[in-house]
Amino acid sequence: MGKILELKNLTREYPGVIALNDVSMSFEAGEIHSIMGENGAGKSTMIKIIAGAIPATRGTVIIDGKPCEKLNPAISKELGIGVIYQEFNLVPSMSVAENIFLGENTGNAVMPDFKYMHKRTKEIMEEFGVDIDSHRMVGELTTAQQQLVEIAKAICKNCKVLIMDEPSASIAVAEVENMFRIVRRLKAKGVTIIYISHRMDEVFEISDRVSILRDGAYIATKNIGEVSRKDLINLMVGRELTETYPTRNVKIGEPVLEIRDLCGNGDFHIDLTLHKGEILGLGGLVGSGRTELAKMLFGDVKPHSGEIIVKGKRCRFSDTSKAIDAGIGLIPEDRKKEGAFLNYTIQWNIPSMSLRRISRGTVIDFKEADRLADEYVERLNIKTPSVKQLVRNLSGGNQQKVVVAKVLAAKTDILIFDEPTRGIDVGAKQEIYRLMNELVEQGMSILMITSEMEELLGMSDRIVVLYEGKVSGELNKEQFSQDRVLELASGM
Ligand SMILES: Nc1ncnc2c1ncn2[C@@H]1O[C@H](COP(=O)(O)OP(=O)(O)OP(=O)(O)O)[C@@H](O)[C@H]1O
Ligand SMILES: [Mg+2]
Repeated sequence: MGKILELKNLTREYPGVIALNDVSMSFEAGEIHSIMGENGAGKSTMIKIIAGAIPATRGTVIIDGKPCEKLNPAISKELGIGVIYQEFNLVPSMSVAENIFLGENTGNAVMPDFKYMHKRTKEIMEEFGVDIDSHRMVGELTTAQQQLVEIAKAICKNCKVLIMDEPSASIAVAEVENMFRIVRRLKAKGVTIIYISHRMDEVFEISDRVSILRDGAYIATKNIGEVSRKDLINLMVGRELTETYPTRNVKIGEPVLEIRDLCGNGDFHIDLTLHKGEILGLGGLVGSGRTELAKMLFGDVKPHSGEIIVKGKRCRFSDTSKAIDAGIGLIPEDRKKEGAFLNYTIQWNIPSMSLRRISRGTVIDFKEADRLADEYVERLNIKTPSVKQLVRNLSGGNQQKVVVAKVLAAKTDILIFDEPTRGIDVGAKQEIYRLMNELVEQGMSILMITSEMEELLGMSDRIVVLYEGKVSGELNKEQFSQDRVLELASGM
């Protein structure tokens, strides 16, 4: 086994930020090599340089023994590098096959060879045991299916190195297994996989080796058998950090949110009560109706019938601003589309949901707005040279922190968190948990949708599990168990 990819003194600078700082490391042919590091550590920057998407300020990428001074996406691809980016790059209005061959020359200059495209797509899908029709529009597929199309797109070029930047961030646990099956098959064919994830379990399950970046610098590479979770965390954050759920002391009070016979599309029919001071965990598989419920409560989706009662008052939200006025805040699942204003600064984003609260009449208290921004940048450890940075220039995880900060700063009494810590690193997760505790201690209530079992069991006072649009069971703290949640989630 030789080195398939080497990085020599790779550096990337942005104004006020050294995103990657003199990184040297190498990847072996046929290994699965994970990269871990806190949000903003430089992981995505590193892979963008390897893919030729951005140039390095200094340093060299050596692909299969060949030093590449001037990389661009076409050269990198030609040399066998396939990349699945943190944000998908598919065209929703085109078919699966068209997406897979986007930018390739099949057929002649005028007419792409559709027959070949569909035939080849079918072959790839069959080879990896994936059942997706090559004629379907990508926009109609589930996120997990889109993920598989991204993988197919990368591997149809027979790449030697497949880089996956947080591929699991938007798909469910069962679907991750499906993806791993394909990853293992690629490895068996000698492909090198570079795998980026914040999920420790996955890294331990899939990797041969793991490397850690911190603040743009290379820290270490370890064989996966020779490290513990704790070792990895300490390497990532550079200090001791225990992974425990902070305890809280809250007296749970009267109902603040009652959902009665709420019906929606298909079999959706939910009854649920959230109490003052409570963190109610909402478990279930992707598609079980959890996000649908969150959207109905936030005025984003209209229920067909039923009642939403907020603090004793029947409510109907025609839009989200009405929901906010009634005291409901939502951290949405899809933060790219629904969460942050990417072309605005952090300082503008964080107080943006709190403006009414911090205004006198029509006059906004800008001092208070700036203070809020500073406070949450500090508390959530948002990595940025300044609060004046545009959100689009932040790393993926730091963009998410901005959305979380925005909703927390609004201090609505009822908070709905849809996957609050997805894509967020281990240190910041702890801070979010502490903030959640503080909020309920101040008398607020939280409805927490999460697919992370540990988080569900660790943070909830009570757990309700949904299955196919209905409540399949409810667990009190004494009844909490992983097995029970999984049973209920699969409708048993
Ligand atoms: N276009 C840009 N302009 C300014 N700074 C940038 C730009 N792109 C990235 N950065 C900065 O470079 C640093 C590294 O970002 P990068 O996206 O590589 O982090 P990451 O390790 O992938 O984090 P995450 O886990 O959050 O995805 C961050 O501090 C980020 O703010
Ligand atoms: Mg990233």
